[in-house]
Amino acid sequence: VKIKKAEYILSAAWKSQWPKESFPEMCLAGRSNVGKSSFINAMLSRNGLAKVSSTPGKTRTLNFFNVNDALYFVDVPGYGYAKVANNVTKQFGKTMDEYISERQTLRGFILLVDYRHKPTKDDVMMYEFVKHHGVPVIVVATKEDKLKRNDLKKNEKLIKDTLHFDPSDTFIRFSSLKKKGIQEAWNAIYELCDL
Ligand code: GTP
Ligand code: MG
Repeated sequence: VKIKKAEYILSAAWKSQWPKESFPEMCLAGRSNVGKSSFINAMLSRNGLAKVSSTPGKTRTLNFFNVNDALYFVDVPGYGYAKVANNVTKQFGKTMDEYISERQTLRGFILLVDYRHKPTKDDVMMYEFVKHHGVPVIVVATKEDKLKRNDLKKNEKLIKDTLHFDPSDTFIRFSSLKKKGIQEAWNAIYELCDL
């Protein structure tokens, strides 16, 4: 995939601020520090693009990126921050409900989990939430380079078992450090977006 254009569009705190439904959309979620910004930058071969609005806690916005005038990436702030006030979390849960149930152009979620660890309760909740709405998921297991060879299969199984992974979803071993899994991720995205 050749990235001719990768452009930050806007951050939306409210539905009224979402861009008009146009391109197919992929929504990216994962707990804080999982490697989401690194994933976006690796996928788009841009450094620093995904830094926008990454301050945890304060505003919880959906951040829209235009990719090649062909699709939108929608970046969701990392979850699992203890410091985030409860009312902020609540409001953001509402935003996500609204987004997933109303956004017509949403084609799939990219859920990032840390390949080294068993998914957290938040990871499981996020996966269940998305599946509950019948939206396909690409599970991206990040930081693959930090695993011993022997653990690749074992941890993949642990992650799938913990999430109650739906076999019709895609699982991708990813390392932004080693640039591994980029092609596989693009293939999965293209398939979901009919590109
Ligand atoms: P927040 O936006 O702060 O929630 O984090 P994030 O999910 O965007 O993660 P980010 O991409 O900022 O990466 C977090 C840390 O993990 C950084 O120190 C990265 O260098 C490191 N990291 C990300 N991806 C990889 C990877 O594939 N391999 C290794 N070894 N480290 C990685
Ligand atoms: Mg980030």
